[in-house]
Amino acid sequence: MIVITVLLALASSTTVHAIAKVSRTGRYLYTDDGTRFYIKGVAYQPPGAVVASSANAFNEPSTFIDPLADAAGCARDLPFLQQLGVNTIRVYSVDSSLNHDSCMNAFSAAGIYTIIDLALPLNGSIDRNSPAWTTNLQNQYISTIASFSKFPNVLAYNVGNEVLLSDATAPAPFVKAAARDIKAYLTSISSSALVGYAAIDGAADFLQPLSNYLSCDPSGTNAGSSAIDLFGLNNYEWCGNAPTTTYDSINSEFADYNVAAYFSEFGSEDCNPGVRVWTETGTLFASPMTNIWSGGLAFSYFPASSSAGQFGMVNISSDGTTVTPNADFKNLASQYGMISFVNSPAKSSVAASSFPACPSANSSWAASDTLPPTPDNAACACLEDALSCQFHTSSSNYSALVGTLTDTACSLLGSSGGTCADISGNGTTGVYGRLDMCDPITKLSYVFSQYFELNGRQPSACSFDGNGTVNGGAPSETALAAAKSCIPNPSAVVTPSAPTAAVSSAGSSGSGSSGRSNEAMSGNAMLSITLVVVCMVASACWTML
Ligand SMILES: *[C@@H]1O[C@H](CO)[C@@H](O)[C@H](O)[C@H]1NC(C)=O
Ligand SMILES: *[C@@H]1O[C@H](CO)[C@@H](O)[C@H](O)[C@H]1NC(C)=O
Ligand SMILES: *[C@@H]1O[C@H](CO)[C@@H](O)[C@H](O)[C@H]1NC(C)=O
Ligand SMILES: *[C@@H]1O[C@H](CO)[C@@H](O)[C@H](O)[C@H]1NC(C)=O
Ligand SMILES: *[C@@H]1O[C@H](CO)[C@@H](O)[C@H](O)[C@H]1NC(C)=O
Ligand SMILES: *[C@@H]1O[C@H](CO)[C@@H](O)[C@H](O)[C@H]1NC(C)=O
Repeated sequence: MIVITVLLALASSTTVHAIAKVSRTGRYLYTDDGTRFYIKGVAYQPPGAVVASSANAFNEPSTFIDPLADAAGCARDLPFLQQLGVNTIRVYSVDSSLNHDSCMNAFSAAGIYTIIDLALPLNGSIDRNSPAWTTNLQNQYISTIASFSKFPNVLAYNVGNEVLLSDATAPAPFVKAAARDIKAYLTSISSSALVGYAAIDGAADFLQPLSNYLSCDPSGTNAGSSAIDLFGLNNYEWCGNAPTTTYDSINSEFADYNVAAYFSEFGSEDCNPGVRVWTETGTLFASPMTNIWSGGLAFSYFPASSSAGQFGMVNISSDGTTVTPNADFKNLASQYGMISFVNSPAKSSVAASSFPACPSANSSWAASDTLPPTPDNAACACLEDALSCQFHTSSSNYSALVGTLTDTACSLLGSSGGTCADISGNGTTGVYGRLDMCDPITKLSYVFSQYFELNGRQPSACSFDGNGTVNGGAPSETALAAAKSCIPNPSAVVTPSAPTAAVSSAGSSGSGSSGRSNEAMSGNAMLSITLVVVCMVASACWTML
């Protein structure tokens, strides 16, 4: 009887068809049964609002719609995703406070994996113009993971999309630190999801150091703890019925790569807008490319607003109920339908990755291999509490204000003989101020406090037009002394823990334990305010190519 019960239980559990776990061995992906896994996917993100301006050259959206919280939308789209024959969707922006059960469970039951980008528009991304890896960003990233970790069909989390450009490589240490800390967090919760980054395409003297840097070991001990698992390349080289030699040079650039790589976007609109032929899939999913790449994601299911085209494969009716596929859709479904996966090399024959030393910095690759520390909520909250003059605002939209005030306060501090070095970091020199990992509000309060203290603690020196408040409960020590005592080890690398809010509600937005969550848009010392122009949806970035 016992035997029969067990067998019945097994039989009923196997009829559920749980989605197979995918993991990386060396540079390839395999499902648990040892079958090679390829990403045959499509980007799945409705467009957010784009505020066009000269400061927004890439048409980057400032808002987003979380498609995985739209149960009706997912139910509407699932049959179309199945017609396309995709096994993976990439979602660029999600809201950890929303419920994703319906979409994630439906996709999982249909065998569809998700690649989830952890960044959000504006202050939710590593700002390439003023880069830092800070508590508020880490909390946002971890809150998202905490709300998705229960779903078995999360293939990967991306720590950034097109943050680094050929003329902006100094932010790389902050991206790599994000990969390191997110990887440690995933390990701590026994998640097998991969850690990824999606790169803008570019010349070899940019892409090679970039890809090698994100998967290198700065410690020189062949350790993978700061290496991504999955390098995504947003590649639009193939246009129309291009020759199969189109990918020769990118193939040779990645021939010896040490971790998995794939095309995190593909599908140029330049040759057949609206009726793309998608013949690249026959090359991408065949040998020799399958020796190098693990598939790719066509861009994009939903239309995108971009100067380089519409890209969409469907139109959704204004009442949100009807999907009208276009010729792009039909052609991709037909091309994807012809693919049979190359099931080699055998998992047992694949060597584990080795993690070489990082590329050295030079005039085209300006990133140090000294990484910033793990952002530490408790240390930054300790400091904020001890500061003599604190930033306070009632505005829920304080992001731009903090940037402006930081620039102003740093300039005032400079004229009083102080500096903003403690709140700044430099990815080229690998020198990070003691507070560089703190959220922008704590950094601003620190600058306010230093100015206040240098000016005899006169109340007027803590006004900042009504944005500063004297902290009557603060100890008499200086801001610098408080920083040294709250952050005694400013280069500590540890496994981060989930912010309190994420633990208690499995993912409300990234509020830290101090009850505030702050923004990444800090001004760099002495500079005028910089706009955040991180490419959220890369549709906006083709002008770079
Ligand atoms: C910098 O080093 C990278 C390799 O890491 C190389 O591809 C690139 O050409 C070098 N740039 C210059 C200007 O030497
Ligand atoms: C989708 O909408 C766009 C813009 O309104 C239109 O140009 C295009 O023809 C539509 N495509 C389909 C398949 O309905
Ligand atoms: C937030 O403030 C900035 C600058 O003051 C402004 O440009 C932006 O429109 C505001 N956003 C919202 C949602 O109010
Ligand atoms: C970082 O340091 C380099 C080398 O000293 C310097 O050229 C660069 O301007 C610094 N970057 C910032 C943002 O201060
Ligand atoms: C705070 O600073 C901003 C920018 O300097 C200023 O516009 C505002 O009036 C100040 N005061 C308050 C209470 O926001
Ligand atoms: C971005 O700023 C808004 C308020 O302007 C805040 O609610 C949100 O938590 C911030 N995000 C991060 C990651 O700091």
